[in-house]
Amino acid sequence: MISPSLQHLAEWYAGLDLEPAVREALFVGAILVTLTIRSFVRRTRIGTRLDSALTLLVFGLAAGAIAALDPNGHVSGPFLYVYAFFVAAIAIGSARALLVLFVDFHLRERRGAAVSRIFRDVGSVLIYFLIILAVLRFTLDLNLTSLIATSAVLTAIIGLALQDVLSSVVSGIVIEVEDPFGPGDWVRIGSYEGKVIETGWRTTRIRTRVAEVVTLPNTYLAREPVVNYSRPDPRFGETLRLEAAYEAPPDLVRQTILEVLDAEAAVLKTPVPEVRTEQFNASGIQYVLRFWIDNFDDRERIHSRVMASTWYAFRRAGVRIPFPARDVFVYSEAPAAGMESGNVRAAVARISLCAALGDENLDKLAARATRKLFGDGESIVREGESGESFFILEQGKAAVILGADRGERTPMIVAELEPGDYFGEMSLLAGEPRSATVTARGAVAVLEIGHEVFHEMVSADPKILEPISRVAAARLAQQHQVRETTALGVAPQEVDASGVLRRIRDWFGV
Ligand code: CMP
Repeated sequence: MISPSLQHLAEWYAGLDLEPAVREALFVGAILVTLTIRSFVRRTRIGTRLDSALTLLVFGLAAGAIAALDPNGHVSGPFLYVYAFFVAAIAIGSARALLVLFVDFHLRERRGAAVSRIFRDVGSVLIYFLIILAVLRFTLDLNLTSLIATSAVLTAIIGLALQDVLSSVVSGIVIEVEDPFGPGDWVRIGSYEGKVIETGWRTTRIRTRVAEVVTLPNTYLAREPVVNYSRPDPRFGETLRLEAAYEAPPDLVRQTILEVLDAEAAVLKTPVPEVRTEQFNASGIQYVLRFWIDNFDDRERIHSRVMASTWYAFRRAGVRIPFPARDVFVYSEAPAAGMESGNVRAAVARISLCAALGDENLDKLAARATRKLFGDGESIVREGESGESFFILEQGKAAVILGADRGERTPMIVAELEPGDYFGEMSLLAGEPRSATVTARGAVAVLEIGHEVFHEMVSADPKILEPISRVAAARLAQQHQVRETTALGVAPQEVDASGVLRRIRDWFGV
């Protein structure tokens, strides 16, 4: 059933006292006229916008031609739907064409009015929606308004699905109302700086200095601070910092820079440029320049020109641009206080073992001995390790321990070493692994003497082998005794005390 108000139109339409053939001819004529208009305006800029409206009108007219074919003489049955489409298409197509002509062509192009894209789009969608509701209501007698208003579930589903989009759209509308910027403005939004290309429903697009097009969701814009460099005042206060040498008088520097700023055409005369002496830095005096420009597009180029001209002006005025300056103190490494002090030669000479070596050999030995420091509890040599060096305890005390590194439950301390004592001779002399662990007691300094140096000592004075090997043999004997009387197992390296000297001579070939 058609409702009464449109009934007249439908009746008028169906009852038009025209021959069906004439009616069809009129429709075809209208379609041809529309198509012709479409092909003409298509080439113009506004025509591309009219294109969709005209296409819709053509389809609408085609639907009208079909509806008019109803053999009953009035629209009914399936023809009713075709008729509904005809009415909707003609209404929407006409509304769209009017919107394009009035808003885009008349207001925007002729009058130059800034009509918000969002409002235009929201407005047109609303108009189309109302047309569709009206057509459904009055031609097909379908009342969708109550259905839409009462469908809470539908509303919730749409609301959830479009949450982000909707919040962006709402933000877009808020931004449109607040109008913090418009197309062509230079802005900084959050961490993005660029020129606004387009403000849209859901997003705003800006072009950066390096031609990146950044599409920012309107929700981001609503959240972040927006700096507009172009509005309301197109002037922008540029700030530059630079240094001049300490010997250049600040007044001269200031004057030189002001002349540069005065000569630069892009720098505005008002507000007056300023040069301030800001602070004394490590390498020079820092000055801050504040000048105003009204062409933000050229900001970096102006910056560059000012800096370059300043360089030349400084050269002419004899103002030096400083490099970072440093006072460098060159010193040869002095021995640290405490453990490292003292002279190796004197330490070596104090040891009874070396007493007979003579000055020349002592010098050689001292030159090649290395001093090493150990903290309390550190192992200087470990039982079982291979070792080819010999140590003289220079400062501090050390404990000789059996079983410390073999996981024994009760390691045995077999001796305490004092300054002037030596150790490590057994591995060195007999070529065996270390027979015990020697651990620092408190801070310890030792002189380490390598195999070759020791060999030279022996060659220089073979007699020193005798006391060393005697000591070694006694130490070994003591070790054996300890091992036998305690729970400690026999050392892996079983050295025969009586054979030590012989093995030493073999080892050293003396
Ligand atoms: P070496 O076996 O090379 O490494 C461990 C060192 O501990 C060993 O040489 C000796 O110099 C020393 N040493 C071993 N047993 C004793 C001991 N009973 N008394 C003193 N020093 C020892």
